[in-house]
Amino acid sequence: MSHIQDKVIIITGASSGIGEAAAKELASKGAKLVLAARREDRLKKLQDEIQNNGGQAIYKVTDVTSLTQMEELAAHTLKKFGKIDVLVNNAGIMPQAFLNENKVDEWDKMIDVNIKGVLYAIAAIVPSMRERKSGHVINLSSVAGHNIYPGGTVYCGTKFAVKAISEGLRQEEAMNGTNIRVTNVSPGAVSSELLETTTDPTMKAGLDEFYQVAIDADRIARAIAFAIEQPSDVGINEMIIRPTVQVG
Ligand SMILES: NC(=O)c1ccc[n+]([C@@H]2O[C@H](COP(=O)([O-])OP(=O)(O)OC[C@H]3O[C@@H](n4cnc5c(N)ncnc54)[C@H](OP(=O)(O)O)[C@@H]3O)[C@@H](O)[C@H]2O)c1
Repeated sequence: MSHIQDKVIIITGASSGIGEAAAKELASKGAKLVLAARREDRLKKLQDEIQNNGGQAIYKVTDVTSLTQMEELAAHTLKKFGKIDVLVNNAGIMPQAFLNENKVDEWDKMIDVNIKGVLYAIAAIVPSMRERKSGHVINLSSVAGHNIYPGGTVYCGTKFAVKAISEGLRQEEAMNGTNIRVTNVSPGAVSSELLETTTDPTMKAGLDEFYQVAIDADRIARAIAFAIEQPSDVGINEMIIRPTVQVG
Protein backbone atom coordinates (compact mmCIF):
# COMPACT_ATOMS: atom_id res chain seq x y z
CA MET A 1 0.00 0.00 0.00
CA SER A 2 1.22 3.52 -0.78
CA HIS A 3 2.43 5.51 2.22
CA ILE A 4 0.10 8.28 0.99
CA GLN A 5 -3.10 6.20 0.91
CA ASP A 6 -5.60 7.38 3.57
CA LYS A 7 -3.26 10.03 4.99
CA VAL A 8 -5.12 13.15 6.13
CA ILE A 9 -3.33 16.11 4.56
CA ILE A 10 -4.03 19.81 5.16
CA ILE A 11 -2.78 22.13 2.41
CA THR A 12 -2.76 25.89 2.99
CA GLY A 13 -2.87 28.02 -0.15
CA ALA A 14 -4.67 25.20 -1.96
CA SER A 15 -6.69 27.52 -4.22
CA SER A 16 -3.99 27.91 -6.90
CA GLY A 17 -0.47 27.09 -8.07
CA ILE A 18 1.63 24.63 -6.09
CA GLY A 19 -1.02 24.02 -3.42
CA GLU A 20 -3.66 23.15 -6.00
CA ALA A 21 -1.24 20.89 -7.91
CA ALA A 22 -0.20 19.13 -4.69
CA ALA A 23 -3.85 18.55 -3.78
CA LYS A 24 -4.53 16.88 -7.13
CA GLU A 25 -1.36 14.76 -6.99
CA LEU A 26 -1.95 13.58 -3.42
CA ALA A 27 -5.66 12.94 -3.98
CA SER A 28 -4.77 10.75 -6.96
CA LYS A 29 -2.59 8.71 -4.58
CA GLY A 30 -5.43 8.14 -2.11
CA ALA A 31 -4.92 10.92 0.44
CA LYS A 32 -7.79 12.65 2.24
CA LEU A 33 -7.33 16.34 1.49
CA VAL A 34 -8.34 19.35 3.53
CA LEU A 35 -8.04 22.39 1.28
CA ALA A 36 -7.49 25.80 2.91
CA ALA A 37 -7.22 29.31 1.44
CA ARG A 38 -9.37 32.49 1.29
CA ARG A 39 -11.08 32.14 -2.12
CA GLU A 40 -14.05 29.85 -1.53
CA ASP A 41 -15.08 29.55 -5.20
CA ARG A 42 -11.64 28.17 -6.10
CA LEU A 43 -11.58 25.75 -3.16
CA LYS A 44 -15.06 24.44 -3.96
CA LYS A 45 -14.16 23.95 -7.64
CA LEU A 46 -11.03 22.00 -6.68
CA GLN A 47 -12.91 19.93 -4.11
CA ASP A 48 -15.54 19.03 -6.72
CA GLU A 49 -12.90 18.16 -9.32
CA ILE A 50 -11.08 15.85 -6.90
CA GLN A 51 -14.33 14.19 -5.82
CA ASN A 52 -15.48 13.75 -9.44
CA ASN A 53 -12.19 11.96 -10.13
CA GLY A 54 -12.87 9.54 -7.26
CA GLY A 55 -10.66 11.30 -4.69
CA GLN A 56 -11.44 12.58 -1.21
CA ALA A 57 -11.36 16.27 -0.35
CA ILE A 58 -13.10 18.83 1.80
CA TYR A 59 -12.34 22.52 2.14
CA LYS A 60 -12.40 25.23 4.77
CA VAL A 61 -12.03 28.91 4.02
CA THR A 62 -9.03 29.98 6.10
CA ASP A 63 -6.84 33.05 6.32
CA VAL A 64 -3.44 31.88 7.59
CA THR A 65 -2.79 35.25 9.22
CA SER A 66 -5.48 34.43 11.81
CA LEU A 67 -4.44 32.02 14.56
CA THR A 68 -8.13 31.54 15.42
CA GLN A 69 -8.94 30.48 11.86
CA MET A 70 -5.98 28.08 11.85
CA GLU A 71 -7.23 26.53 15.10
CA GLU A 72 -10.70 26.20 13.54
CA LEU A 73 -9.13 24.49 10.51
CA ALA A 74 -7.34 21.99 12.77
CA ALA A 75 -10.52 21.34 14.81
CA HIS A 76 -12.62 20.91 11.65
CA THR A 77 -10.13 18.40 10.24
CA LEU A 78 -9.94 16.40 13.47
CA LYS A 79 -13.75 16.32 13.67
CA LYS A 80 -14.10 15.11 10.07
CA PHE A 81 -11.17 12.70 9.85
CA GLY A 82 -9.98 12.05 13.44
CA LYS A 83 -6.31 12.81 12.76
CA ILE A 84 -3.89 14.99 10.79
CA ASP A 85 -0.98 13.18 9.16
CA VAL A 86 0.55 15.93 7.04
CA LEU A 87 0.54 19.74 7.00
CA VAL A 88 1.64 21.36 3.74
CA ASN A 89 2.45 24.90 4.85
CA ASN A 90 2.25 26.43 1.39
CA ALA A 91 0.31 29.74 1.46
CA GLY A 92 2.58 32.60 0.45
CA ILE A 93 2.80 35.95 -1.32
CA MET A 94 5.67 37.71 -3.12
CA PRO A 95 5.12 41.46 -3.51
CA GLN A 96 8.71 42.30 -4.41
CA ALA A 97 10.15 45.82 -4.57
CA PHE A 98 13.42 47.58 -3.76
CA LEU A 99 13.76 48.61 -0.12
CA ASN A 100 14.04 52.30 -1.05
CA GLU A 101 10.42 52.15 -2.31
CA ASN A 102 9.42 51.86 1.37
CA LYS A 103 6.46 49.57 0.68
CA VAL A 104 6.02 48.96 4.38
CA ASP A 105 2.46 47.62 3.96
CA GLU A 106 3.77 44.91 1.64
CA TRP A 107 6.59 44.05 4.08
CA ASP A 108 3.97 43.62 6.80
CA LYS A 109 1.78 41.42 4.59
CA MET A 110 4.70 39.19 3.59
CA ILE A 111 5.74 38.77 7.21
CA ASP A 112 2.13 38.02 8.22
CA VAL A 113 1.46 35.41 5.52
CA ASN A 114 4.88 33.89 4.84
CA ILE A 115 6.26 33.75 8.40
CA LYS A 116 3.44 34.16 10.91
CA GLY A 117 1.09 32.05 8.75
CA VAL A 118 3.59 29.19 8.82
CA LEU A 119 4.05 29.51 12.59
CA TYR A 120 0.29 29.73 13.26
CA ALA A 121 -0.24 26.51 11.29
CA ILE A 122 2.46 24.82 13.35
CA ALA A 123 0.88 26.14 16.56
CA ALA A 124 -2.60 24.94 15.59
CA ILE A 125 -1.83 21.63 13.92
CA VAL A 126 1.39 20.11 15.30
CA PRO A 127 0.11 19.53 18.89
CA SER A 128 -2.25 16.79 17.65
CA MET A 129 0.69 15.20 15.79
CA ARG A 130 2.77 15.24 18.98
CA GLU A 131 -0.05 13.52 20.85
CA ARG A 132 -0.17 10.75 18.24
CA LYS A 133 3.64 10.63 17.96
CA SER A 134 3.28 10.77 14.20
CA GLY A 135 3.17 13.51 11.60
CA HIS A 136 4.85 15.40 8.78
CA VAL A 137 5.24 19.14 8.26
CA ILE A 138 6.18 20.33 4.77
CA ASN A 139 7.09 24.01 4.56
CA LEU A 140 7.36 25.92 1.28
CA SER A 141 10.50 28.03 1.38
CA SER A 142 12.15 28.99 -1.94
CA VAL A 143 15.45 29.37 -3.75
CA ALA A 144 14.93 32.88 -2.30
CA GLY A 145 15.43 31.21 1.09
CA HIS A 146 18.97 30.31 0.03
CA ASN A 147 20.01 33.29 -2.16
CA ILE A 148 19.43 37.03 -1.79
CA TYR A 149 18.93 39.35 -4.77
CA PRO A 150 18.15 43.08 -5.16
CA GLY A 151 14.42 43.77 -4.90
CA GLY A 152 13.78 40.47 -3.14
CA THR A 153 15.14 41.42 0.26
CA VAL A 154 11.99 41.12 2.36
CA TYR A 155 10.63 38.11 0.44
CA CYS A 156 14.04 36.42 0.80
CA GLY A 157 13.98 37.29 4.51
CA THR A 158 10.63 35.53 4.92
CA LYS A 159 11.84 32.47 3.03
CA PHE A 160 15.13 32.33 5.01
CA ALA A 161 12.87 32.40 8.08
CA VAL A 162 10.82 29.48 6.77
CA LYS A 163 14.04 27.51 6.27
CA ALA A 164 15.13 28.30 9.84
CA ILE A 165 11.71 27.34 11.20
CA SER A 166 11.84 24.03 9.30
CA GLU A 167 15.27 23.09 10.63
CA GLY A 168 14.48 24.24 14.18
CA LEU A 169 11.22 22.29 14.20
CA ARG A 170 13.01 19.23 12.84
CA GLN A 171 15.67 19.33 15.53
CA GLU A 172 13.21 19.90 18.38
CA GLU A 173 10.83 17.13 17.29
CA ALA A 174 13.75 14.71 16.78
CA MET A 175 15.09 15.61 20.23
CA ASN A 176 11.68 14.96 21.78
CA GLY A 177 11.12 11.68 19.93
CA THR A 178 7.75 12.68 18.47
CA ASN A 179 8.33 10.96 15.10
CA ILE A 180 7.34 14.15 13.29
CA ARG A 181 9.13 14.54 9.98
CA VAL A 182 9.93 17.98 8.57
CA THR A 183 10.58 18.79 4.92
CA ASN A 184 11.70 22.19 3.64
CA VAL A 185 10.85 22.56 -0.05
CA SER A 186 12.63 25.31 -2.01
CA PRO A 187 11.32 25.75 -5.54
CA GLY A 188 12.90 27.93 -8.21
CA ALA A 189 10.67 29.52 -10.86
CA VAL A 190 7.28 27.79 -11.03
CA SER A 191 4.26 28.88 -13.10
CA SER A 192 1.52 30.05 -10.74
CA GLU A 193 -0.32 33.21 -9.69
CA LEU A 194 2.51 34.28 -7.40
CA LEU A 195 3.89 37.01 -9.69
CA GLU A 196 0.49 38.74 -9.60
CA THR A 197 1.27 39.73 -6.00
CA THR A 198 4.14 41.96 -7.18
CA THR A 199 2.73 45.45 -7.79
CA ASP A 200 5.95 47.33 -8.60
CA PRO A 201 6.01 47.63 -12.45
CA THR A 202 9.82 47.51 -12.88
CA MET A 203 10.14 44.52 -10.60
CA LYS A 204 7.17 42.78 -12.24
CA ALA A 205 8.71 43.20 -15.72
CA GLY A 206 11.98 41.68 -14.51
CA LEU A 207 10.16 38.77 -12.88
CA ASP A 208 8.08 38.11 -16.02
CA GLU A 209 11.33 37.85 -17.97
CA PHE A 210 12.98 35.60 -15.36
CA TYR A 211 9.90 33.35 -15.19
CA GLN A 212 10.06 32.49 -18.87
CA VAL A 213 11.91 29.33 -17.79
CA ALA A 214 9.31 28.46 -15.13
CA ILE A 215 8.25 24.84 -14.72
CA ASP A 216 4.70 23.61 -14.04
CA ALA A 217 3.48 23.42 -10.45
CA ASP A 218 2.90 19.67 -10.77
CA ARG A 219 6.71 19.21 -10.71
CA ILE A 220 6.75 20.51 -7.14
CA ALA A 221 3.66 18.46 -6.31
CA ARG A 222 5.54 15.31 -7.27
CA ALA A 223 8.44 16.23 -5.01
CA ILE A 224 6.01 16.79 -2.13
CA ALA A 225 4.45 13.38 -2.78
CA PHE A 226 7.94 11.82 -2.85
CA ALA A 227 8.73 13.22 0.61
CA ILE A 228 5.43 11.93 2.01
CA GLU A 229 5.63 8.46 0.52
CA GLN A 230 8.96 7.54 2.13
CA PRO A 231 8.81 5.06 5.03
CA SER A 232 7.99 6.80 8.33
CA ASP A 233 11.57 6.39 9.64
CA VAL A 234 12.92 8.52 6.76
CA GLY A 235 12.78 12.31 6.73
CA ILE A 236 13.48 14.11 3.46
CA ASN A 237 14.57 17.36 5.10
CA GLU A 238 15.63 19.65 2.27
CA MET A 239 14.66 19.81 -1.39
CA ILE A 240 15.78 22.50 -3.87
CA ILE A 241 13.90 22.15 -7.15
CA ARG A 242 14.84 24.47 -10.03
CA PRO A 243 14.01 24.41 -13.71
CA THR A 244 16.98 22.69 -15.33
CA VAL A 245 17.90 25.89 -17.18
CA GLN A 246 17.51 28.30 -14.22
CA VAL A 247 20.90 29.80 -13.35
CA GLY A 248 20.47 31.65 -10.02
N1 LIG B 1 5.87 30.02 -7.92
C1 LIG B 1 7.15 30.08 -7.62
O1 LIG B 1 8.01 30.37 -8.47
C2 LIG B 1 7.60 29.79 -6.22
C3 LIG B 1 8.98 29.64 -6.00
C4 LIG B 1 9.43 29.41 -4.72
C5 LIG B 1 8.54 29.31 -3.68
N2 LIG B 1 7.21 29.46 -3.90
C6 LIG B 1 6.30 29.39 -2.75
O2 LIG B 1 5.31 28.42 -2.99
C7 LIG B 1 4.13 28.76 -2.26
C8 LIG B 1 2.92 28.67 -3.17
O3 LIG B 1 3.02 29.70 -4.14
P1 LIG B 1 2.46 29.57 -5.63
O4 LIG B 1 3.61 29.76 -6.53
O5 LIG B 1 1.62 28.36 -5.76
O6 LIG B 1 1.59 30.92 -5.71
P2 LIG B 1 0.04 31.20 -5.91
O7 LIG B 1 -0.48 30.51 -7.11
O8 LIG B 1 -0.10 32.69 -5.84
O9 LIG B 1 -0.60 30.54 -4.61
C9 LIG B 1 -0.51 31.14 -3.35
C10 LIG B 1 -1.60 30.56 -2.47
O10 LIG B 1 -1.49 31.19 -1.17
C11 LIG B 1 -2.81 31.54 -0.77
N3 LIG B 1 -2.78 32.64 0.19
C12 LIG B 1 -2.25 33.88 0.04
N4 LIG B 1 -2.50 34.61 1.14
C13 LIG B 1 -3.19 33.81 1.99
C14 LIG B 1 -3.75 34.00 3.28
N5 LIG B 1 -3.65 35.16 3.94
N6 LIG B 1 -4.41 32.96 3.86
C15 LIG B 1 -4.55 31.79 3.20
N7 LIG B 1 -4.04 31.55 1.99
C16 LIG B 1 -3.38 32.57 1.38
C17 LIG B 1 -3.55 31.88 -2.05
O11 LIG B 1 -4.94 31.64 -1.89
P3 LIG B 1 -6.07 32.74 -1.60
O12 LIG B 1 -5.67 33.99 -2.34
O13 LIG B 1 -7.31 32.10 -2.13
O14 LIG B 1 -6.11 32.90 -0.12
C18 LIG B 1 -2.99 30.82 -2.99
O15 LIG B 1 -3.73 29.63 -2.90
C19 LIG B 1 4.37 30.15 -1.66
O16 LIG B 1 4.76 30.02 -0.31
C20 LIG B 1 5.54 30.68 -2.49
O17 LIG B 1 6.31 31.62 -1.80
C21 LIG B 1 6.72 29.69 -5.15
